[in-house]
Amino acid sequence: MDTTIFETTESEVRSYCRSWPTVFSQASGSILTDEQGREYIDFFAGAGALNYGHNNPELRTELLEYLSSDALVHSMDKMTPAKREFLQTFKDIILEPRGLDYKVMFPGPTGTNTVEAALKLARKVTGRQHILSFTNAFHGMTLGSLSVTGNSMKRKGAGMTLTNSSKIPYDDYLDGETPDFLWLKRVLEDSGSGVDKPAAIIVETVQGEGGLNAARHEWLRGLRELTKEHDILLIVDDVQAGCGRTGSFFSFEEAGITPDIVCLSKSISGYGLPMALTLFSPELDVWAPGEHNGTFRGHNPAFVTATAALRRYWADDSFQNGHLVKVIEMVQDALTKIAIEVEGTSVKGRGLLTGLRFSDTDVAGKISAKAFEKGLLMETSGPEDEVIKLMPALNIDLVVLERGLNILADCVSEVTGQEITLVLGDTAKA
Ligand SMILES: Cc1ncc(COP(=O)(O)O)c(C=O)c1O
Repeated sequence: MDTTIFETTESEVRSYCRSWPTVFSQASGSILTDEQGREYIDFFAGAGALNYGHNNPELRTELLEYLSSDALVHSMDKMTPAKREFLQTFKDIILEPRGLDYKVMFPGPTGTNTVEAALKLARKVTGRQHILSFTNAFHGMTLGSLSVTGNSMKRKGAGMTLTNSSKIPYDDYLDGETPDFLWLKRVLEDSGSGVDKPAAIIVETVQGEGGLNAARHEWLRGLRELTKEHDILLIVDDVQAGCGRTGSFFSFEEAGITPDIVCLSKSISGYGLPMALTLFSPELDVWAPGEHNGTFRGHNPAFVTATAALRRYWADDSFQNGHLVKVIEMVQDALTKIAIEVEGTSVKGRGLLTGLRFSDTDVAGKISAKAFEKGLLMETSGPEDEVIKLMPALNIDLVVLERGLNILADCVSEVTGQEITLVLGDTAKA
């Protein structure tokens, strides 16, 4: 296996290829194959960009037809039939059935682009500069997104002071005894507090990179009430937790809240093609034409696969209430069993944005490395990489899922020295 060109020519900034040192040449569903023909089960799913698996055949058929038809690939934000179909489908299948009245903006095609657009819009609408975000948040690597991100290593990489934002405690950050939002309520009500009223508060319902902390639904409702009361915009960054990952299309649905602004990217194209959306209430649509711009906002192949994915998986409840529920149950069942058997271990996250936290912070990294040796791809999460993170595709075959969960149990057992009898339920057979 020749990896010389990567080592000699690609920048030192490369990272995943260091954890998984092989050359992947093929991918289908939840199986990747390397140049040696070795197979790996994918519990990573492109960090949430491949919720429907690699090279999903139904989406690919539509993509190939589109590409061979001489229809537009690149179009800036010009009108095309592919964009019309996507907007209509998104409205019909996602927004209207959920009673959501959002305008749809296409920022640049990545997660950090939609976060930058959301922050910019919140400042423009309110005329305020300050943004509040949460401890252990991750919102992306460009300067605005970094300013609302927690991780000190990533923040340092900015090489400059990150301003106009402050961090406040996420759910369960304090002792659990302190009433939710006590500090925030006090300072917002106290004209002498010296804390500038923020334009917005940006939140992840589950902190994907920051250790898989999941906010309780009542905490999210409290945050929504408080922001409404004080005329502060609420931005939900659903870049990682959205598109079905926590069990519903938007991760905030179960909490019953309606954010003012929503950031989506990763799996919105359905096929791993770059695409992002910023959604906001119509009264916030104060942009001047072209005021926020970008060359790659109208990527028609991504519109085509996004439309196909919405029609295939979200047109009715059958996928959400059927296969997705089974996958979530199997994963949560396995994690709970492992956590019961291995001391110092707890289950984190929600739905398929989930994992295990180990009190010994060296363990998760060792499990991830061992899993690679045994043919399973899983990354770590958390400020000290103390959490092993499971993000299988939502449509993963249940037999493949069971194989992956058994490999996980073996790895946990080998690294911690604790025997685990992982008896999965009958879900795979059901
Ligand atoms: C919640 C959240 N927001 C934003 C981003 C940034 O997305 P991107 O890497 O596409 O810029 C990520 C990436 O992991 C994320 O998890």
